[in-house]
Amino acid sequence: MGVTRAVAVANPLNLVVLISGNGSNLQAILDGAASGELPARVAAVISDRADAYGLKRAARAGVPAHVVARDAHAGRDSFEDELLRRVESHAPDLIALAGFMRVLSPRFVGRFPRRILNIHPSLLPKFKGLNTHQRALDAGERRHGASVHFVTAELDGGPVILQSEVEIAPGDDAESLRARVLREEHRLYPRAIRQLAENRRRGMNMADMAADAR
Ligand code: GRF
Repeated sequence: MGVTRAVAVANPLNLVVLISGNGSNLQAILDGAASGELPARVAAVISDRADAYGLKRAARAGVPAHVVARDAHAGRDSFEDELLRRVESHAPDLIALAGFMRVLSPRFVGRFPRRILNIHPSLLPKFKGLNTHQRALDAGERRHGASVHFVTAELDGGPVILQSEVEIAPGDDAESLRARVLREEHRLYPRAIRQLAENRRRGMNMADMAADAR
C-alpha cells in the first residue's frame, strides 16, 4: 500500500468537514490536503451518524473524528448546540458540508456567515433538495452537474462558487448519472476550496469571498 506523505503548506485554511455517510468528497479533500495541492488542513471530521464510513476515512488520515448524533438529542436546538461546540473547538476558517444530511438552522448558519460551504449534485439553482439525478432525467435536461455554494438560511440557495457540468447521455439512468456527477464532485470541491484559500492569500477576508463568488 502506498504511503501518502503530508506536504507542509504555509498558512493553510483550517477546515472542519461535516458528513453523514460514505465521505467520498471528504476523501477528495483529505487527499488534496495531504498532497499539498489544496492549501488546507482538515482539523476535524464530524458526523451526525455513528455508522458513517467517512469516519473511517478520517481515522485513516489521522484526522480527529467526532460523532454528534441527532438521535441523542430531544430537539434540533440542543443537537446544534453540541455541534456548535464541537465545530468551534477546532476554530475553523471554513466548514465544508460533504454529504451532511441535516438542514442547519438559520441560527447555526448565522454564526458562520460565508464560512459554510456545501456541495450539491445539480446545477443550482436547478433541482434543490433530494433525488436530483432522477429529477434532471425526468425534466428532460441535457446537461446536469454539481455546484459548490455558500450555505445560507435558504436550503441549497446560497451563492454559487463553482459548478461542473456533465452531459446527459441517451442511455443514462439515475445511477449512471450519479456516478458521473460524483466523479466531477471530487475535482470540484477541492478546486472551490483552493479558490477560497487563494482569495484569502490575496488579502481578501471571508466576507469578501462572497462578492467574488459567482
Ligand atoms: C454527494 O453527491 C453530495 O453532492 C451530496 O451528497 C453526496 C455525498 O457523497 N450532498 P459522499 O458522502 O461525499 O460520498
